[in-house]
Amino acid sequence: MSSDSSLPWLLYGAYGFTGRLLAEEAVRRGHRPVLAGRDHERVRAIGEELSCPIRVFPLDDDQALAAGLEGVRAVLNAAGPFIETAPPLLAMAIEKGVHYLDITGEVPVFEMVFALDEEARARGVALLPGIGMDVIPTDAVAALLAERLPGADRLDLALRSGGTPSAGTLRTIVHHLKDGLLVRRDGELGRANPGRREFLRRVDFGPGREGGERPVAPYTWGDLATAFRTTGIENITCYMARSRREVTLMPWVLPVLQLLFAFALVRRAAERRIAAGPPGPDAETRNTARTRAWGRVRDAEGRSATVGLETMEGYRFTAEAGVRALEALLARPALVGALTPARAFGARWVLDLPETRLIETEADT
Ligand SMILES: NC(=O)c1ccc[n+]([C@@H]2O[C@H](COP(=O)([O-])OP(=O)(O)OC[C@H]3O[C@@H](n4cnc5c(N)ncnc54)[C@H](OP(=O)(O)O)[C@@H]3O)[C@@H](O)[C@H]2O)c1
Repeated sequence: MSSDSSLPWLLYGAYGFTGRLLAEEAVRRGHRPVLAGRDHERVRAIGEELSCPIRVFPLDDDQALAAGLEGVRAVLNAAGPFIETAPPLLAMAIEKGVHYLDITGEVPVFEMVFALDEEARARGVALLPGIGMDVIPTDAVAALLAERLPGADRLDLALRSGGTPSAGTLRTIVHHLKDGLLVRRDGELGRANPGRREFLRRVDFGPGREGGERPVAPYTWGDLATAFRTTGIENITCYMARSRREVTLMPWVLPVLQLLFAFALVRRAAERRIAAGPPGPDAETRNTARTRAWGRVRDAEGRSATVGLETMEGYRFTAEAGVRALEALLARPALVGALTPARAFGARWVLDLPETRLIETEADT
């Protein structure tokens, strides 16, 4: 069913901050997706504004969900936290033979998707999570590095994002704070103490105002799941550029937050504060800020390779790259099973995206 190119695709969570950016970009590129979500009034409003068909259904009602995915070729899930929305959508997509894509950056969600690989293959369905800022650019960096140094056994990835997180992203971070810091060692995911000396480092993000040598702190990115599948490298650490102060405080603050945010009451209070703030970065920030991705691999002989990449601001990137990834997937009917972006489209696909290029970086210190 999913190979029938006359069937529409559906965007779930279309009225969220990033969902709307994806919907607008899709329409700009000539698509007419079915816009969907659980709130009738908000779905109706965006459907009317963008002249797209709509469907309204919650994810906790199997019958409504089955009807919602009826006659659809692919579903792009933009409703997060994905730890809540991905399980029912994934199960129903596989059951109904519908391709599943999302913009998650959540490690447990990626792991859940990869565990469904065989089931999805058997149904001829492709599962492509993470077609946003996390993980398209860093997955490409990982793939390029694995090509440059075959046999590498350690991968470090870092991101320096201009701009600010959306309320939905903050809510998702709050949801996962209780899980603490994750790294991958010898192929297994495990918790790590953020105060470990090995995490104390600076990264050179390349030339220009957006680059420079910056302090970074370890961070639980989706790449801990995806880069492992893309490259097979068994030791992966992810980092985020931070101010010197944040890097110094992180080892002390993170364990406290981890304890506090295990309580639902604390999470709800934080969510109320987030809801009172802006829904996401404004148009000027989205149009002007830049993101740098950096990666380094090493092998047992001490050889290393480094790759740097620059692209646009994260939410604009997610909209522009997300729609193009969906187009690329639908254009390749042979793709089935659980995929990473670089596995699906190759290491260099990212370089065809607008305003995206490789950059020179110096050795880190
Ligand atoms: N990978 C990346 O680089 C990347 C980039 C951008 C965003 N994201 C992620 O995408 C997610 C959305 O971000 P956002 O900024 O768009 O947030 P947002 O503005 O809060 O939108 C969230 C959307 O999800 C819907 N939703 C949430 N829980 C739901 C549930 N249980 N059932 C049905 N719908 C549900 C919301 O509907 P209601 O309003 O009805 O609750 C809303 O439409 C976040 O998890 C964020 O971290 C990832």
